[in-house]
Amino acid sequence: MRDAAPTTIYLKDYAPFGYCVDNVELEFTLHPTATRVKSRIAFRPNPETTDRTFFLHGEQLKLISAAIDGAPVTPEVTDTGLTCDAPDAPFTFEAEVEINPQANTALEGLYMSNGMYCTQCEAEGFRKITYYPDRPDVMGVFTVRITAPQDEMPVLLSNGNPEGMGSDAPDTHYAVWHDPWPKPAYLFALVAGHLIAHEDSFTTASGKHVKLAIWVRPGDEHKCAFAMEALKKSMTWDEEVYGREYDLDEFNIVAVDDFNMGAMENKGLNIFNSSAVLASPETATDLNFERIEAIVAHEYFHNWTGNRITCRDWFQLCLKEGLTVYRDAQFTADMRSAPVKRINDVIDLRGRQFPEDQGPLSHPVRPESFQEINNFYTATVYEKGAEVIGMLKRLVGDEAYKKALDLYFDRHDGQACTIEDWLKVFEDTTGRDLSQFKRWYSQAGTPRLSVAEAWEDGTYTLTFTQTLPPSATTPDPQPQVIPINIGLLSPNGDEVVPTTMLEMTEATQSFTFDGLATKPTPSILRDFSAPVVLDREADSAERAFLLAHDTDPFNRWEAGRALARATLSAMATEGATPETAYLDGIAAVLRDDSLDPAYRALMLGMPGQSDLAGSIAQAGMTPDPMKIWQASETLKQALAQHCQDLLPRLYAESHVDAPYRPDAEQSGKRALASAALSLLSRLDGGAQAAQQYQKADNMTLQLSALGCLLSAEAGEEELQAFYDQWQADRLVIDKWFMLQIVHADPTKAAAVTQTLTEHPDFNWKNPNRFRSTLGAFAMNHAGFHAADGSGYGLMTDWLIKLDPVNPQTTARMCSAFQTWKRYDGDRQGLMRDAMERIMGQQGLSRDTGEMIGRILNA
Ligand code: TRP
Ligand code: ZN
Repeated sequence: MRDAAPTTIYLKDYAPFGYCVDNVELEFTLHPTATRVKSRIAFRPNPETTDRTFFLHGEQLKLISAAIDGAPVTPEVTDTGLTCDAPDAPFTFEAEVEINPQANTALEGLYMSNGMYCTQCEAEGFRKITYYPDRPDVMGVFTVRITAPQDEMPVLLSNGNPEGMGSDAPDTHYAVWHDPWPKPAYLFALVAGHLIAHEDSFTTASGKHVKLAIWVRPGDEHKCAFAMEALKKSMTWDEEVYGREYDLDEFNIVAVDDFNMGAMENKGLNIFNSSAVLASPETATDLNFERIEAIVAHEYFHNWTGNRITCRDWFQLCLKEGLTVYRDAQFTADMRSAPVKRINDVIDLRGRQFPEDQGPLSHPVRPESFQEINNFYTATVYEKGAEVIGMLKRLVGDEAYKKALDLYFDRHDGQACTIEDWLKVFEDTTGRDLSQFKRWYSQAGTPRLSVAEAWEDGTYTLTFTQTLPPSATTPDPQPQVIPINIGLLSPNGDEVVPTTMLEMTEATQSFTFDGLATKPTPSILRDFSAPVVLDREADSAERAFLLAHDTDPFNRWEAGRALARATLSAMATEGATPETAYLDGIAAVLRDDSLDPAYRALMLGMPGQSDLAGSIAQAGMTPDPMKIWQASETLKQALAQHCQDLLPRLYAESHVDAPYRPDAEQSGKRALASAALSLLSRLDGGAQAAQQYQKADNMTLQLSALGCLLSAEAGEEELQAFYDQWQADRLVIDKWFMLQIVHADPTKAAAVTQTLTEHPDFNWKNPNRFRSTLGAFAMNHAGFHAADGSGYGLMTDWLIKLDPVNPQTTARMCSAFQTWKRYDGDRQGLMRDAMERIMGQQGLSRDTGEMIGRILNA
């Protein structure tokens, strides 16, 4: 049972705070169990409101003293904050509180990780540090003084520019930091510890010198070079593409082992999950490098989209996150291959955002209510939020997008803004009315787009119908503006109409193309121009034709994927055999050496099992996880056999001789080699994988070989050798945990996971380790959904155990149950029982309570 009835917060109830903050002075005296925080905050009445209620957020704080303008006050204190009488004139509030960083396992507020102090304040963690109006529309200039033992904590960091260090007592020292840019409390950060800097510098376009440093624990300093290069590239890119320069004397990044998410954009002091920053060729894979580059860029880009212009309230989260994800995707497309990036993003969208949008957790890109804001850092807010910006850019064009962004930065620099402010700059730039477009922000769910075609006297007509299923947050859906990129191909494969954007605004709308000699084949939704499900009853001949001829790289890949989806679904539901159009079509693409290896590697991929279960459910059938697993195994085996002459050549030709570089070119080749190896291993029982494992001199090759061996139910020895080799490297041992579970036969996955949770290295309080184990288990689709409920039971036990320790990470992992309504009655019953068991826990966190409550009330 939850302790108290949860309160729901609504967007419509927004009201400004009664006071503005001019200045904040904080003094930290660090101690593992009794840190003292003194604050001195200059408030003044907010001219925007007459409400002078003086409530400061504060949780888990021990109040030592408080004063207004120097006179002691005794505020009324509850578990959520303090209230006291305050003047209707400028005044200074002072307080001293005590907090216990060592006891903070939730990793929100000030906590300790491996002997270092660090903070995580977004979204509402600052209230666990001191009493403060902890809301993003209250922005102040912070000065921070940190005092700590000199030997244990030689490095003391906070936001902004350093203003000196010193000592005023034996064995202790202090540092002062001043951040001249007004900021909300969620961007506050503090780090203290025994850390080593990997240093560099950057000169901005206007000639400002910036000191750069990545701070890590001793022993990790050789794993920073790649992230540093990524940072410098990001700084240059933001200057060149968005005209945005960095604005402080220093930019610091700190790597932390215990962290709930990927990274955090605190002003001038980004804090990163060590998995999102540390990399060397021996310990990180190509995919790790690519992810690090993207996350470094993402956090850096937040300096403008998030920090200089922030959110008025947390309902506006997509204002900074959708835009920053969009910007980091543009960056990756520029640094690497644009089509490959687009395809990977769509795979991710379908894998994470579509299930969310089509299930009980569905919510608009800008939600209108929540209980716990941490539960809304979702694929919908981030990834669909980025898609919405992509559509806006398609609709207004590149030039208008650039002008609108310039206006956005000019008009709103230093402000806390809303989606209305964002859309207004586009309206003012283009003269367009964006009120219909705005539905992308307010309506939940994935629109489905069906297509009918007609051909008469040289005129080709495409008629589209959009439908958005009603949902709890969107009971009465209205038509949205959908940019549909299309191209038309003639029967010989020539493009008769190049990519054209159709702007759909009605529920049903037709578009005609005149003067065509023969009936064309349409290539619809090129570049995935809108986040919708395209319902097109195409036959496999048409898909095979597009797979062979489409000039749009996304849609060419998509044609192969649609063939795979159709054949897998027929195999899993009707016992069909693998479709030759798919096997022949893929083989033909693989033979085409003019195609980028990374692109060919993507062609070898297949829809994931959970993704397939979703398609089967959408087609009105009940997915059987075991049959889906068997269908994908069978299809992989068939593809391996069908391509058996081709695979050895692909594998050999993709070999990289040059010294390891994690760039797009080399990693594309390795991706193709590894896709080929995984099929080859189905033919040779893992013989070549074992050879690759022996010779591997980088983690990409080592790990892909080990994965192939495990899938072939081999590799016992290699698995042990891998552990022995990497025992001391946390991030590599995370991979060791994950790999065994991901590659486990589904009938054994629960047992494998159970055994791993008994391993001495299973530090379940570390989010990375927990995710590598239980998170990986949720990804073993047929294993998690085992018919006897063993998978649900295992997951539930662990979620219940983790919840009191780390509610944020627990709540995120509850999404494993979000698709429960897709499955048969027995499985639904088992999942309902599991969720009710979670719901029945004494003292269940608000985070987990909200998630399970929403999923159950489907
Ligand atoms: N704002 C961060 C980002 O997207 C993510 C974030 C939000 C976060 N809340 C967090 C990170 C809590 C760690 C912990 O870049
Ligand atoms: Zn972000």
